[in-house]
Amino acid sequence: MKDFNGKVAVITGGASGVGRSLAFALGRRGAKIAVGDVDGTAMEQVAKDLAAENIEAIVEHCDVTSLDSLNALADAAVAKLGGLDLVFANAGIGAGEGGAMWDYSEKDWEWCLKVNVWGVINSIRAFMPRLVASGQAAHFVVTGSGNGAYTILPDAPIYTASKAAVHAITENLHYQCQAGQLPVKVSALFPGPHVVDTGLFNSDRVRPEDLQKDGGAPDSGITSVDDMKRMAAEFGIEMQTTHPDEVADMALRGLEQDAFWLLETTPDSDEKIRARADMILNRTTPVPATLG
Ligand SMILES: NC(=O)c1ccc[n+]([C@@H]2O[C@H](COP(=O)([O-])OP(=O)(O)OC[C@H]3O[C@@H](n4cnc5c(N)ncnc54)[C@H](O)[C@@H]3O)[C@@H](O)[C@H]2O)c1
Repeated sequence: MKDFNGKVAVITGGASGVGRSLAFALGRRGAKIAVGDVDGTAMEQVAKDLAAENIEAIVEHCDVTSLDSLNALADAAVAKLGGLDLVFANAGIGAGEGGAMWDYSEKDWEWCLKVNVWGVINSIRAFMPRLVASGQAAHFVVTGSGNGAYTILPDAPIYTASKAAVHAITENLHYQCQAGQLPVKVSALFPGPHVVDTGLFNSDRVRPEDLQKDGGAPDSGITSVDDMKRMAAEFGIEMQTTHPDEVADMALRGLEQDAFWLLETTPDSDEKIRARADMILNRTTPVPATLG
């Protein structure tokens, strides 16, 4: 897709971070934007900011853990913006995991898997039938994470597990669209190459009442990228970050090429991918990867 002008792009989790940057990057290229999110304050802000740039947009309350909510978002995009051309299944959370996984709150597992995995499944179930029925060229983009897709960082097992599942689903969706010779191109978006400075580390702001941590469950104590930077500095590591606008630009460049991998790496992360493949081929015992 070379020309985004006049296209309708639906973005879940579009009120903040990577999703918000995608909304502006696409809107500035003439696309009409449907944001679905659960964060009322951020939704109000993004609606105001998109309007200030004269970007045609709707901002709807949409909880990706509910198929009905995603169906309503799809209907709203068609009714109010006139179609569906790009879908970004992007909403995601970090569950604030800390300590041993057997001590985690069951609610941590439930919340993270519901949003990160079921959010993608529900998005596929809501949007794919509509995209297939339209018969038009379309993109379905899923935001995954290298942590889970091709590396296993040791500190957030629920998040990592969720993103491993997300990648398997995304790659399979690609194979199924290809096998069916459908005009829907599937892409896997990996925010990076460094930790992206977004609200992901403060996901508790949108944690539902019924899925709060059980009393006494461990917590990572991290609520922002700055917290992570401080923690890394204590180990003598200067942590680099990526701005979400850079991720959105990278994603659009990839979509222009119909690329599956919307992925920017560094020599260091390339080396880690190679080392992981070697570890499997050589049957060596896993050693924990570090953030890069
Ligand atoms: N920040 C990073 O370094 C990084 C790295 C790899 C992958 N990601 C992925 O990028 C995606 C976007 O996250 P981000 O980093 O921009 O964080 P963010 O917190 O800034 O944005 C996530 C958005 O999802 C929304 N959201 C949360 N629960 C929701 C629900 N149930 N229904 C609808 N919306 C919901 C939030 O309100 C928020 O607006 C996520 O899938 C995340 O896992 C982020």
